[in-house]
Amino acid sequence: MSIRGKVALVTGASSGIGAATARKLATEGVIVGLAARRKDRLEALMTEITDAGGKAVALPTDVTDPASCKAAADTLIAQFGRIDVLVNNAGLMPLSSIDSLKVDEWKRMVDVNVSGVFNATAAVLPQMIAQHSGHIFNMSSIAGRKVFTGLAVYCATKAAVTAFSDGLRMEIGPKHNIRVTCIQPGAVKSELYEQIKDAAYRKQMDDLAASMTFLEGEDIADSILFALKSPARMDVAELFVLPTEQGW
Ligand SMILES: NC(=O)c1ccc[n+]([C@@H]2O[C@H](COP(=O)([O-])OP(=O)(O)OC[C@H]3O[C@@H](n4cnc5c(N)ncnc54)[C@H](OP(=O)(O)O)[C@@H]3O)[C@@H](O)[C@H]2O)c1
Repeated sequence: MSIRGKVALVTGASSGIGAATARKLATEGVIVGLAARRKDRLEALMTEITDAGGKAVALPTDVTDPASCKAAADTLIAQFGRIDVLVNNAGLMPLSSIDSLKVDEWKRMVDVNVSGVFNATAAVLPQMIAQHSGHIFNMSSIAGRKVFTGLAVYCATKAAVTAFSDGLRMEIGPKHNIRVTCIQPGAVKSELYEQIKDAAYRKQMDDLAASMTFLEGEDIADSILFALKSPARMDVAELFVLPTEQGW
């Protein structure tokens, strides 16, 4: 299916998987709304995409704020008249043990990883419903399928994203012709591990990165393109994408 001229909103577009997805979508002729908090990063990516002949708009956004998500969606709709794709990708993973009681980090993960997905979805849904078309990608994780120590709260947030994706697909697929894809990556090279403050867990992740070849952000972007370009009759509901060397 051709995706040229479609309009996409990508959250967490300032780095990692989100930035790679924005680049790939733009290469395919998709107009991309770049949403995240770091304005300088978004503007640099917008310039890069524009210089390469694509179309992108920097939309500084905090996904924990419903009004900020709505403002980003409204800007895209005002400029381009529609929203065809939402990539709910913004996320945090500051590992720690439960008994270290980093309740601020737990709250932040719930706010960004879970409420952020709800907020951005609510911001685009009225437009997609009016269009009777759309495709929403939710970034879960292997951590939404199994639990790892040090990652209990993160796993809980990603399990929530997986559950929400399934319910969303069942409700808005048949009724509004909107497809939903839940992406569940294994280890991907990105800035995600840089937020880990606990020295032992940070070392554990650094050791892991040294022991195997992680996926690149563009591998996940390619998975998103596969689902997006599938025939309209087909909804790739889940994509579980792992490094070949990941034996767990
Ligand atoms: N890397 C992996 O191994 C892996 C595996 C499975 C799933 N994932 C998931 O993939 C997604 C992307 O992660 P990544 O690996 O690409 O990490 P990353 O490079 O750290 O990207 C995270 C993105 O989320 C954005 N973000 C954080 N808080 C935000 C907020 N309040 N509002 C808007 N944007 C916010 C960040 O932008 P700003 O700081 O500029 O706001 C950044 O662009 C996450 O949901 C992560 O859980 C990653």
